[in-house]
Amino acid sequence: MAEIMRTKSVEQSIEDTEAPEHRLKRRLSAVDLTVFGIGVIVGTGIFVLTGRVARETAGPAVALSFVVAAIVCGLAALCYAEFASTIPVAGSAYTFAFATLGEFPAWIIGWDLMLEMALAGAVVAVGWSGYFTSLLATIGIPLPDLAGINYPAMLIVAILTGILVAGIKLSSRVNLAIVVIKVTVILLVIIAGLFFIRTANYTPFIPAPKATPAVEGLGAPLIQVLFGITPVAFGVIGIFSAAAIVFFAFIGFDIVATAAEETIEPQRDLPRGIIGSLVICTLLYVAVSLVVVGMQPYSRLSEDAPLADAFTAVGQPWIAGLISIGAIAGLTTVVMILMLGQTRVLFAMCRDGLLPRTLAKVHPVYGTPARITLIVGFVTMVLSGFISLGALAELVNIGTLFAFVVVSAGVIILRRTRPDLPRAFRVPLVPVLPIASVLACLYLMMNLPVETWLRFFAWLLIGVVIYFLYGYRHSTVRGYRAPGPKGQGF
Ligand code: ALA
Repeated sequence: MAEIMRTKSVEQSIEDTEAPEHRLKRRLSAVDLTVFGIGVIVGTGIFVLTGRVARETAGPAVALSFVVAAIVCGLAALCYAEFASTIPVAGSAYTFAFATLGEFPAWIIGWDLMLEMALAGAVVAVGWSGYFTSLLATIGIPLPDLAGINYPAMLIVAILTGILVAGIKLSSRVNLAIVVIKVTVILLVIIAGLFFIRTANYTPFIPAPKATPAVEGLGAPLIQVLFGITPVAFGVIGIFSAAAIVFFAFIGFDIVATAAEETIEPQRDLPRGIIGSLVICTLLYVAVSLVVVGMQPYSRLSEDAPLADAFTAVGQPWIAGLISIGAIAGLTTVVMILMLGQTRVLFAMCRDGLLPRTLAKVHPVYGTPARITLIVGFVTMVLSGFISLGALAELVNIGTLFAFVVVSAGVIILRRTRPDLPRAFRVPLVPVLPIASVLACLYLMMNLPVETWLRFFAWLLIGVVIYFLYGYRHSTVRGYRAPGPKGQGF
């Protein structure tokens, strides 16, 4: 038991990144990181989920749901910032868990992050395909259906995989251009939308609670079932159920931490990048959702493209078209960075021997973990071709919130076990603030449906089996050495 709870020292984690074959190039600044953050944060959450959640769960009060989700993420972001500035190596929550809780918890978190990133990448690729198909249809080029396979989504994932293999600098440039387009389009929605707001649409701001098909059976939020409440949507309770869903819109700031090894001054720039991108996105989301529910009665918002369709509804199709183009561009960077984050977590796991180490080899010319990138690209591509958006966002959310719980608890643990480590960024009011973060994340998790919890446990169970069949025997932290002199087994 003690063996599988063995931690990896912070010095060891940092030293591992110095081995020439495993070193990633340091090229990113605080501004690059903020752009990187906005690139992945602003996506399907605001462009697609806002409409669905306003219609089914929260009404115009969806803006408050964004505020609730932002507070939860803000607390977790402070914890992520401290960790990322203390242990600046690739792998995010996985690396943090290894330094504080031990090997087995770290594996579980790494496995959990796969759920977050690979699944989220595929979900966003499907969203991308929806906007792409609809824009082509409006300009008179309808795409043929190929046995229900989502081939536009598969194609965009394949192209992005190629860009990632070729090197992060290229990706950052593409990302910067697209982030500018995306933010411009969001500002367009806010400013142009102001002219079409009808104050009557804000009444009632919080619709009366009622039972709906969306909260029947296993679709009911766990918290309502546990407390014996007849499951309802809307009302004050609905604001929190909706917050657990729009939480998806904030996923990504944690992925900024996975770029630690590629940051020029991680101690200073990581906290700035993480918190900066989160603050900017929160302001944009609250403004956009207030404008959109003001333009149309919430029950008439569209589920697939609510921001664009709100403008079509007020007779402004050209603005709707521009928004669609921005959404397509914006969703592209989201898929790309989710995939990038996934490769970096897998990279760290292979380096520690929990997955085959040969996969972690860095490409001699491009300086990227090419093999892992190709594997992640393939899996995301297959998922995106065959799954529908549906409840998958909720599964991604529960996995991500779980990782936030572990990181927040880890801050308290590492302060006790390694008070000596230099911390460029320190969370204020430890342990009060990290404990508040743990509780807030658990509370949001409980607002997710019962079926999401069941799927999540099934995924974790598969992870436990794989650990004991492979990682347990090959872990380098517990002394396993690949055959041959040190360094050649990679
Ligand atoms: N936050 C990202 C999105 O909303 C994952 O698409």
